[in-house]
Amino acid sequence: MNMIFLGAPGAGKGTQAEVVCKELNIPAISTGNMLREAVKNGTAAGLAAKDYMDKGELVPDEVVIGILKDRIARDDAKNGFILDGFPRTVAQAEALEKMGVRIDKVIEIDVPDDAITARMSGRRVCEGCGNSYHIKFKPTKVEGICDACGAKVVQRIDDKPETVQARLKTYHEKTAPLKDYYLSRGKLVTVQGQNEIAETSRLTLAAIKG
Ligand code: AP5
Repeated sequence: MNMIFLGAPGAGKGTQAEVVCKELNIPAISTGNMLREAVKNGTAAGLAAKDYMDKGELVPDEVVIGILKDRIARDDAKNGFILDGFPRTVAQAEALEKMGVRIDKVIEIDVPDDAITARMSGRRVCEGCGNSYHIKFKPTKVEGICDACGAKVVQRIDDKPETVQARLKTYHEKTAPLKDYYLSRGKLVTVQGQNEIAETSRLTLAAIKG
């Protein structure tokens, strides 16, 4: 099954993608993680993306579409995938269609902005493998150390409160219109994401299987 996880920054797309990809044995493809990797490695895409990401703005469509296209063509995506954080503009959704990529379901994880602002201050991510944690809701077993790879977990530059506000504004202006785009195509299913992580996973899996 080919799916898109849609939602505001911090709604829990990455957290739920991690659960669902294990359950269905398909890859979760996060354009945010790919862009952060590109920045770390100093590639052309990374250099083009960094300033936008630090300010909480969207990276230009052509940069993101380019890296997504290469990733989706890999063998492990042949039997299905979750797109986490792509598309984020109508132009990106149209590019997917032009590539001939079939989308079976779009899962929107819905969380109000005030809950998101509170959540983001506690998020920590691994410097090594990119795994995501929360100091209260999903803590590491050893404080400050990634459970999966043992590297340090840190706060993301774009999780500072003022940048989170910019990301939310960008989401409402540029990405939220995708809800109507996919609703009109009969693909959108909305999951309430305010519950605890395990309950949101239950609702997400039910929405996928339903
Ligand atoms: P990206 O990395 O995709 O960030 P985002 O969409 O802003 O989403 P997040 O990863 O911040 O949130 P999430 O919904 O995955 O939440 P998470 O599960 O981590 O993108 C970063 C930047 O890259 C963008 O700003 C943009 O510049 C660029 N970019 C990426 N894709 C692009 C594209 N297609 N086009 C253009 N630019 C692009 O959860 C958040 C926290 O809450 C975690 O700590 C988690 O543990 C916790 N949590 C999760 N669920 C719950 C729960 N139910 N209860 C309590 N806590 C919870």
